This record gives sequence, structure tokens and C-alpha cells, in this order.
Amino acid sequence: MTARKTYEQLRSARWMLPDDQRSFGHRSRTMQMGYAPEDWQGKPIIAVINTWSDAQPCHMHFRERAEWVKRGILQSGGFPMELPALSLSENFVKPTTMLYRNMLAMETEELLRSHPVDGAVLMGGCDKTTPGLVMGAVSMGIPFIYLPAGPMLRGNYAGKTLGSGTDGFKYWDERRAGTITQEEWQGIEGGIARSYGHCMTMGTASTMTAIAEAMGLTLPGASSIPAADANHQRMSAACGRRIVDMVWEDLTPEQIITSAAVDNAVTVAMATGCSTNAIIHLIAMARRAGVPLELDDLDRIGRTTPVLANIRPSGSTYLMEDFFYAGGLRALMKQLGDKLDPTAITVTGKPLVDGLDQVKIYNDDVIRPLSNPVYHEGSLAVLKGNLCPDGAVIKPAACDPKFHRHRGPALVADSYAEMKKIIDDPDYPLTPDTVLVLRNAGPQGGPGMPEWGMIPMPKALLKLGLRDMVRISDARMSGTSFGACVLHVAPESYVGGPLALLRTGDMVELDIPARSLNMLVAEEEITARRAAWVAPTRHYERGYGFMFSGHIEQADKGCDFDFLTTEFGGKTPEPAIN
Ligand code: FES
Repeated sequence: MTARKTYEQLRSARWMLPDDQRSFGHRSRTMQMGYAPEDWQGKPIIAVINTWSDAQPCHMHFRERAEWVKRGILQSGGFPMELPALSLSENFVKPTTMLYRNMLAMETEELLRSHPVDGAVLMGGCDKTTPGLVMGAVSMGIPFIYLPAGPMLRGNYAGKTLGSGTDGFKYWDERRAGTITQEEWQGIEGGIARSYGHCMTMGTASTMTAIAEAMGLTLPGASSIPAADANHQRMSAACGRRIVDMVWEDLTPEQIITSAAVDNAVTVAMATGCSTNAIIHLIAMARRAGVPLELDDLDRIGRTTPVLANIRPSGSTYLMEDFFYAGGLRALMKQLGDKLDPTAITVTGKPLVDGLDQVKIYNDDVIRPLSNPVYHEGSLAVLKGNLCPDGAVIKPAACDPKFHRHRGPALVADSYAEMKKIIDDPDYPLTPDTVLVLRNAGPQGGPGMPEWGMIPMPKALLKLGLRDMVRISDARMSGTSFGACVLHVAPESYVGGPLALLRTGDMVELDIPARSLNMLVAEEEITARRAAWVAPTRHYERGYGFMFSGHIEQADKGCDFDFLTTEFGGKTPEPAIN
């Protein structure tokens, strides 16, 4: 750690201290807002990056929670400056929030760069907000602390516990199968999201906030606190207090996000039964910090890290509220024992593992010991083969084990609309062995790699009583989804990946224990199909989408913009103040 900073060394002092006309303007305009010089003189200015909006139910409490953060900043001798950022609601933003994750990252980085701030509290939680905020703040490089929104309370309908996302998918299949009434469906609609906060299954939001904590970017235990729990207010104020000290200590993200911290984040992610989306975001976040992380690293750690969090969708009963009462993420870290690297530190300046021996586990059915895991390996498996030379992922713990080894004929759809016709036709000729394939749904093809990968079960199979089958796509799926869904096929079909060459009727072989996915088509035939393949036209002729299509990387690289990665190189200068 570097020496304690002086006020003159702070970024904000460049705006607020000089005796010149520009700084006169900065000071007089601060006074215009009602502040007196003693409010800011000699104090770090702390940005509170708030992703609240009227279109973001997961962050509905952030308008009020920002006040608690500011209170903590003031208590610790800092000066808060709240800056709103893109709220990226998973429910409302179309075609997919993934199209805009990098926009939030760019916005965060440039908000921090262009304003007179010395440190930041990042307020996020809904899926893409965690990686978006963290990626931007890491690239900016000033001290920051992440404040997770916290999961919402358990859903409830007619005495049954409901998990957001997961039970929506499950009961939609039942409705299509005609086993629940319209009235029951409406009851589920009203009961599945009962409070503010992010999804309370172990979906992408809970996974990503757990990853942020395991990477050392939150206060200890912060990610498990339910949004509606008074502990969340206290934690918000504590974030405000701590960030001020982090600025004086000059505790920058590069000191926290080391390869040890990234390995810890991967280990914890695997043990949570993490969302498949986590792979993409983890790679992108690590690469922003200059830590190379490959799909093979994730698979390696996954093979030796069992799933310990018995939370839906990997588990069958519990939700994030139960996880908190059972001891939360710190309890899960305790169960992991020496699988965590003790050299990694957190925003506290202390090791991640500090104090874990004091942590209590209140329910070891919810947070299992290594000797009694939910699933013997980690949550995710990485597949390679002639259909996905750069990789694909599957969540073995959330699919029927009979599909872990499977061979069947492909049924290929070139678009979601085409796939919808197949799945909605109760008489479509397919069998339980059929492998449903959806292509042109990747980063370029979707565009934005939408969550279409959990292709709904075809009506023709639902009426036979079937609830799972092998599905393959270059899309993502929601972290709350489940089933034998192979995702993130790279390179994607839209840019000419081998998935573009697969035809209906070709045999496909999936072997999860061997980590392989292949089309059983002769090499000469594949070569002939490749020669005949015609590239589709780009989706966008202007605007953000045009920039997105020109620079988005493939899923195995984390879907960052090529010009924002550390490999691209280059430095962005501090703004001139003149
Ligand atoms: Fe926001 Fe699920 S919709 S976390």
C-alpha cells in the first residue's frame, strides 16, 4: 500500500484549490448549490454512482439508499457528489441489457474521469450493472467500493415460495401444458416479486454481487443482505465511511483485483452454483484489470470446486433470503476452507479470508460443507469441439443428468421467430432425442447476445410429459434458467462460426464429462458448406449499435469492446482543466 495522500495530491484539488478563474467557477457553482467552503475544503470528493430509475424495480430503494451512503461519506470527512448512471433494468431494456453493459462501463469510466472526484461508491445489483459499473471504475483506476442492491424477499403465492425468473419459466411451461389456470397464473404474477431488490434466486444478479464480494470489491458480507433488511441501510452508510479512508490510503483497484482475487472470485462463483452469464462478465472484469482469464481457467477451477449453495435454480428449495439467514457468502467462503487464496485483499485493506474462522454457519443444508455438496463439481462446464472451437458453456447441475451424454438429430432455427413456430406447434415432428438449435443469437447476431438460450420446451414434447431436452445456441440464458442448454457457442454463427454450417438432421453429440460438443459431419462436407456460406448484413447502419457491431468481442473473450481492454493498450489522459 502506498503512503497516505495529502489533500493537495487529490484529483479534486485540481478543480477546487487553485487561485485562478476556472477554480473560482468550480467553487462558486458549488456554493450555488448551497454548500459553504468548509463543506469541501480539505476533503476528498466521493462520487456516488447511482443506477436508480423509474424503470428499474431492482434498484427502487437506491434513491433513498444513496442518502445513507452520503451520510457515511459526511461522517468520515468526505464530500459526496451523486451522479446518475444508466439503470439497465433486465426486465424493461430491449433487445437485451447485454447490448448496453459496455455502454454503462464507458459511462461509469467517463463520469469518474470528467468530474472532480477522488473515489466512488458504485450502486448496482441488477444483472449487467455489477460488471458494467466495475469494468468502468477499474479502467478509471481510482479507489472504489461496490454497494450491492441486495436480493428481494422470497416470492409467495398460495403458501408456496416462488423464485424470480426460475418459477416464471417453470409455471409458464405448466400454463402452456394446461396444468394451471389463468387465475393461478395471475396469482403467481402478483406474488413472485414482493419487494425491491434484485432477483432472489442464484441468478446472474446474486452471482455477480457474490463475485464482486469475493473479488474484494465490497465490504465483508455485503452481497447477501436482503434489500429490505435494515442491515442494508447500515451497510450503505458503512460504504460511505470506508471509501473516504480508501482515498486517503490510495487503495486502488489494481491492488485489489490481482490474479489471486480473480481465482477466489471464480472459486466462489462455482460454489454458488453460478449463472452462466458470470463467465462472460468475470472474463471481462478480469481483463479490464489486466488479469488474463480464459474459459479453460474457469473449467479447471470448476472441476475441483463443488456447488455448496443449495439455492435455486441449482438447488430445489431455498432462496437468497435463506442464504442470508444461514450465514451468507462469508459462511460459504468458510466452507471453502483452503480453496481460497489468502493473499488477496479487499476494500478493507485486509485479506479476504480475515475473520472467516469466526463466521458461523446457521444452516448447513442451505450452505453445504465440502463433504455434502449440492453437486460434486462446480456449476459450469466448458465444452470444446467442432461446433464450438473457441468454447461453449453448460450448467450441468441445473439439467437432467440423463443429458450429460447425449446424441441426437439437430433441428435448426435461424431466428427466434422461426424457433417460436417450432415450439408452439403441438404436432411438430420431433422426438425426445431432438437437439434444438437456435443460431444468429450471439453478440453480433442477436444483436447483443440476448437471453434466448433456454429455448422453451416444445408443446409437442410438453404434452408427452417431458420438461427437459438438449438445446444449443450462441445466445446466453438468464441466470435463473435451467435445463440442458448449451450456450455461448464461439465463434458465433453470425460471423461464420461452425454453428452456421449445421443443418437439420445432422447428428450432434454432447459429452459433458468429456467436455465435448461435436456435429458428426464429415470434414470434407463441413469444408464444402463453409465455402458456400454467405455472411449476413450488419444489423446497424448508424448509432451506438454501429459502434457495438464494429468492436464487440466474442463470448469467450468476455464481450468487451476491443478498444477498452488492457490488451488494446493505450492510456486515456486526465482531463485538462482550463
Ligand atoms: Fe433485476 Fe433479475 S430483473 S436482477
